[in-house]
Amino acid sequence: MAVKEIMDTLRDAGLSQFVKDIKLIGSTLEIVYGIKEKGVERELEEKTRQALKDMPDVKDIKVRFVEVREEPPAFSQPMFVRRKVEGVRNLIAVGSGKGGVGKSTVAANLAVALAKLGYKVGLLDADMYGPSVPTLLGLKNQRVYVDENNRIIPLEKYGLKVLSIGFLLPSEDTPVIWRGPMLMKALTQFLFDVNWGELDYLILDLPPGTGDVQLTLAQNVQMDGAIIVTTPQDVALADVRKATAMFREVQIPILGVVENMAYFVCPESGNKYYIFGKGKVMEFASQYGTKVLGSIPIDPQVAEDSDKGTPVVESHPESEVAKAFLSIAKLISDITRR
Ligand SMILES: Nc1ncnc2c1ncn2[C@@H]1O[C@H](COP(=O)(O)OP(=O)(O)OP(=O)(O)O)[C@@H](O)[C@H]1O
Ligand SMILES: [Mg+2]
Repeated sequence: MAVKEIMDTLRDAGLSQFVKDIKLIGSTLEIVYGIKEKGVERELEEKTRQALKDMPDVKDIKVRFVEVREEPPAFSQPMFVRRKVEGVRNLIAVGSGKGGVGKSTVAANLAVALAKLGYKVGLLDADMYGPSVPTLLGLKNQRVYVDENNRIIPLEKYGLKVLSIGFLLPSEDTPVIWRGPMLMKALTQFLFDVNWGELDYLILDLPPGTGDVQLTLAQNVQMDGAIIVTTPQDVALADVRKATAMFREVQIPILGVVENMAYFVCPESGNKYYIFGKGKVMEFASQYGTKVLGSIPIDPQVAEDSDKGTPVVESHPESEVAKAFLSIAKLISDITRR
């Protein structure tokens, strides 16, 4: 007689749900039942004997009980307990696996572009070691103060509320030496102990890479989406794979990829030159189940304006670069919460 037949009989008697292990050795049946609380052993054993009494091959029945803990149903609990930044409708992180691909440039220009579309926007420089937002927005050597509730009042520029560690350091050259928990505490304070007011978008300029800072932030803060910045070179794309994997792992929806320095427009002829190759980012994005939000040309004006402290969207709104940023901003406003 097969154990299957015994199991069928136990199922009919409503006992199979308790079975953790079952063995038929000769004519001796050994059953291990898992129970959540004590006191039901006798009843279960009697029911078992009753159910199997007509089975000729089972001469002897040995029943053992083990206590089992009630398991939470899968996915009923969130993986992390994330805090929401009060008053912020959409918290969007701009990240990449690689440094120097233009994250801060993209974050600052998208923030200004969203503000131009009429949204209330904040920009937070989460790069504690290499803050570049003060330079990008012409806010170097500016300081921030706290309100009566001890909350930091962000600076305002180009219609944005802006905060960077640069506004708290005694001088531009002061190195930030925070490590681990201290750094995280400072960053959390930068998000939660700030008088942001009501914002449609808070754009987070992440430091390069997929290290502890990015991961801890992603695990502790409720982010509504991530934008990944890349350049079309293979080496940068490889790093973006890591960034994509990280955001996926911490369940932050990836809004899409911004391809920066995608092509060069010849000022004389107006022809487009795809210096680093065309179509690779698109291919990559579809391979990873995401999309390209837009492609930004390489334009020396971008770097020049950034150094002067005016994002190109503000200083040259008619330029091809600015238009590319504005169209990405529109797309973001279409795919996020209003
Ligand atoms: N589309 C562009 N055309 C020309 N120059 C650009 C463009 N985008 C960014 N740059 C320049 O490239 C340099 C790096 O940009 P940025 O600082 O934004 O990169 P990042 O990814 O934030 O760097 P980090 O990893 O150091 O934070 C800057 O000098 C910036 O002005
Ligand atoms: Mg940067």
